[in-house]
Amino acid sequence: MKTKILSTTKQDISEAASIIRRGGLVALPTETVYGLGADAFNSKAVADIYKAKGRPSDNPIIVHIARASDMGRLTPMLSADIVALVENFWPGPLTLVVKKKADVPDRTTGGLDTVAVRMPDSKAALDLITMADTPIAAPSANISGRPSPTRAKDVISDMDGKIDAILCGEDCRVGIESTVVDMTSDVPTILRPGIITAENIEAALGKKVKYDESLRQDSNFHDLDPNTGAGEADGFAPKSPGMKYRHYAPKAQMTVIEGQRDKVKQEIERLKGLNERLGLKVGVILFEERAFIEAAHDFFARLRDLDNEGVDLILAGALSDTDGVGFAVMNRMLKSAGYNIAKV
Ligand code: TXA
Ligand code: MG
Repeated sequence: MKTKILSTTKQDISEAASIIRRGGLVALPTETVYGLGADAFNSKAVADIYKAKGRPSDNPIIVHIARASDMGRLTPMLSADIVALVENFWPGPLTLVVKKKADVPDRTTGGLDTVAVRMPDSKAALDLITMADTPIAAPSANISGRPSPTRAKDVISDMDGKIDAILCGEDCRVGIESTVVDMTSDVPTILRPGIITAENIEAALGKKVKYDESLRQDSNFHDLDPNTGAGEADGFAPKSPGMKYRHYAPKAQMTVIEGQRDKVKQEIERLKGLNERLGLKVGVILFEERAFIEAAHDFFARLRDLDNEGVDLILAGALSDTDGVGFAVMNRMLKSAGYNIAKV
């Protein structure tokens, strides 16, 4: 398939919108990461998203809307908490899991009776949804398992030849995917951490929220090897189906070094020297201390750049943050490393 490379001019967005209306696939820039969009109400088009990504079909897709009032097309019931979160955080990097209406296709929701919805904070995305005149289902626009794309060139490298068009906009401002919150019970539950934190949500709702069990780092791996620090995912079944697959993986082998910052730096230098002496190409990801927003912005792009440079091994310094933005970045970092952790 020939993929059209489009810009974000009005004319190009209008062309992309007609592709969506015809049941085609268009990659689009959002403020978090690039998405791979299709008409959320067209089962065949949504099935094509799974094919293009090579994505397991039980992994449901986020539906993107351009006006809060479009919630009414997707869900039969809104709670005061849902309305409060919409008013506080939309458009923005917060996805709400709500009861779905019967006519939202099973293909879109992976057969669940809920649907995940968000309003992205990117003009190109909002214009595209408005012109297509339908909610747009869009997972991240990467080949399944690869790091999420935060730049048009990353989308082109994964999706050229597989989809109808790519809307090439600016680099994504946030750099990690939206926070996903399950709003189907009284206690909102964070299924995927993001730059909107539990603290932000609690401040908006005036009540406690909780994290899904699977996000507690310790429940995700066991039997750490004392020499390499390597651990294994232990088959835990998380609520957000996407969280159970190996994710965000660079081509290189990757290890996360965790511990007190000076020791982490030393250990990275030591391992780098050691590996380079035996002819391996080593890449390092070490963010400034507590620069979590920047880490979120740069993390996936760094992984892709290091892969493009052809490094064999990536050594990444863990961020120490138990529930803020650093925690959200760590969620991605540990997954990309396949929970390969060395403690110092
Ligand atoms: O920032 C984002 O959210 C980006 C941009 C494109 O909007 N999208 C994104 O989509 O990250 P994706 O498909 O890569 O991740 C969606 C996550 C997955 O972990 C999926 O399992 C979860 O949301 N999810 C989707 N629908 C769900 C539902 N009904 N219940 C629970 N989890 C759901
Ligand atoms: Mg994804």
